[in-house]
Amino acid sequence: MTRTYDELRSARWFAPDNFRGFGHRSRTLQMGYDEQDWAGKPVVAILNTWSDINPCHQHFRQRVDDVKRGVFQAGGFPIELPALSVSENYVKPTTMLYRNMLAMETEELIRSHPVDGVVLMGGCDKTTPGLVMGAISAGLPAIYLPAGPMLRGNWEGRTLGSGSDAFKYWDERRAGTITEAQWKGMERGIARSYGHCMTMGTASTMTAIAEALGLTLPGASSIPAADSNHIRMSADCGRRIVGMIWEDLTPARILTAAAFDNAVTVAMATGCSTNAVVHLIAMARRAGVDLTLDDLDAKSRVTPVIANIRPAGSTYLMEDFFYAGGLRALMARLGDRLHRDCLTVTGRTLGEGIDGAEVWNDDVIRTVDNPIYNEGSLAVLKGNLAPDGAVIKPVACDPRFLVHEGPAIVFDSYPELKEKLDDEDWDITPDAVLVLRNAGPKGGPGMPEWGMIPMPKALLKQGCRDMVRLSDARMSGTSFGACVLHVAPESYVGGPLALLQTGDIVRLDVPGRRLDMLVDDEEIARRRAAWTPPPPRFHRGWGWMFTNHIQQADKGCDFDYLETSFGAPVDEPVI
Ligand code: FES
Ligand code: MG
Repeated sequence: MTRTYDELRSARWFAPDNFRGFGHRSRTLQMGYDEQDWAGKPVVAILNTWSDINPCHQHFRQRVDDVKRGVFQAGGFPIELPALSVSENYVKPTTMLYRNMLAMETEELIRSHPVDGVVLMGGCDKTTPGLVMGAISAGLPAIYLPAGPMLRGNWEGRTLGSGSDAFKYWDERRAGTITEAQWKGMERGIARSYGHCMTMGTASTMTAIAEALGLTLPGASSIPAADSNHIRMSADCGRRIVGMIWEDLTPARILTAAAFDNAVTVAMATGCSTNAVVHLIAMARRAGVDLTLDDLDAKSRVTPVIANIRPAGSTYLMEDFFYAGGLRALMARLGDRLHRDCLTVTGRTLGEGIDGAEVWNDDVIRTVDNPIYNEGSLAVLKGNLAPDGAVIKPVACDPRFLVHEGPAIVFDSYPELKEKLDDEDWDITPDAVLVLRNAGPKGGPGMPEWGMIPMPKALLKQGCRDMVRLSDARMSGTSFGACVLHVAPESYVGGPLALLQTGDIVRLDVPGRRLDMLVDDEEIARRRAAWTPPPPRFHRGWGWMFTNHIQQADKGCDFDYLETSFGAPVDEPVI
C-alpha cells in the first residue's frame, strides 16, 4: 500500500493555497528551510527525550542529527520535538509518577503538530513505555530508537553492573567489609559511558520488549550506546520511518495479541525486570489487548531464562550480550515459542528479522535445553494479602525463602523504616518479614522503587544478605532478593496490606503462588471496620490529577481516561 502526498496529514498544513497554508509555509521559511525541503514530503516528528540531566540519553543530542540525516536521505522532512526526559536517577519521588505524563505528552505532541510519523528516542526505564503508550494512542506510524546500554563498569579490574553492584557493595559498606576509598573508586568506575543501565534492569528489559513487539529495527535494542553501530542504526531509523509513512504502517497493524505474546516470552527468557509487568500490561491495554497478571505468570512457568545477564544471571552484562549475538540471536534460540509471522516496523515479519542470527557465546545466550533457570523470571502471588495479585522474581532470591513463614514487622512510611534499618541493636530475627506500606500507586505516590528494602544492619552483621520483604512498591529492575512487590490493591486505598499488624505471621508460598497473613477472617473484618483512609496527599497540580486517575498495579498504572476503552477516539485537530 502506498499513499500519495495529498493523503498525508501534514499536507493539510503545508499544501493548501489559503491563509493557514501561507502562515505555515512562511514560518518554515523563517527557520531557513526552503520549499524543496518540505514540499511533497512526509513530515517526521523525532521525539527526543534528551536532557542535560539524563546520562542515559546524553548522546541523543548527537543521535538526533543522525536520525535527521536518514530522514532527509529517504525524502522526508524531520522536525525534532523535545519530550520529557524522566531521568531515572534524579527525578523524585519516582519517575513512575511521570510515565503517564510522558505518554500524554507523546500523544498530544504527535496529534497537535503537522506530522505523519514519528521516531521515538528513549531508553531510560520509563521512557520506553511512556513513548510507546502515547504513540499507540496517537496511531501514526512510529519506530522506536533505543538509547542502548552503557559500557560495562570497571573498578580495580573488576566488572561492575549498574544498580546491582551498587546495592551489593552498599550492603558490604554498611557491614564494614569495604573501605571508603574502595567505595569512592566504584563511584568513578560504575558508569563509564553514556547509555542506559547495562544490567538486565528495566531499561534493557523494556527496549528488548519494544524490539520483540516489532517496534524497532532488528537487533537495535542490544547495540551499546557508544558503538558506531548505534549511529548507523539511528540513521536507519530515519530512513525507515519515511517508508513506513508511505506504507501507512501504524502501531495498530504491528501490536497484535500475538506480538504481545512474543514480548512476554522474550521478557521471561531474559530474566526481566519486575517493572516489565506493569508496563507490559499498560502498553497492551492501550493497544486493545487484554493482557493480565495470570497470562504473565503462565508464560513464566513455561519459559526458560536463557539470557545469562545480571541480576538473574551471575556474570554477564548487556555489552557481553551484544557480542554474543544480541536479542536477534536470543529470539532465534526461542524458535517456535515465538510467533514468527508478526509484522514489524521493517514491513517484514519478526521471523525474517531474526533469520540467520547466530549465537557467538553459548554461556551468555544459553540454549533452551541449558538455561540458567528452567522457569521463574516472575511469579504472581494471590491470597488474603493480595487479592488482585503481587509479584516476586524467584530467580533473584535465595531459594530457601520461596516457601516461608515469619512474623511481620510493619512500617507505614519509608522514612520511618529507613531510620530503623541502621539500628545495630535492633532485635530482629532472619525469619522476620519486613513490611512497607503506603508505597503503592496512590500511596507512594507513584509506586517508588522502595520494594528492595535494604537489609537491616543488625542482620548484615550476622552475615545475612537476604530476607523476605513485602510491599505495595516496585523495585529497580537491577535489584535482587526475596522481595514481594506490587501488592494490589495497595494499602493506601484499603487493600488488606493495610490491615496487617506487627507480629502477624505472613506465609509466602511461591510454588503454590500464595501470599497470606495467618489471621482469621473475623479478625480481618474487625480490623477493616476500624480502618480509616489516610488523608489525601495532594490538593492541586499533577499529583492531584495522578491520584484521582491512576489505576492499580495489576491494571498497569495507566490513567483511567487514557485507556483506549475510555471513550470515543479524539478527532483530528481543526486547522
Ligand atoms: Fe537510566 Fe538506569 S538510570 S536506565
Ligand atoms: Mg531502574
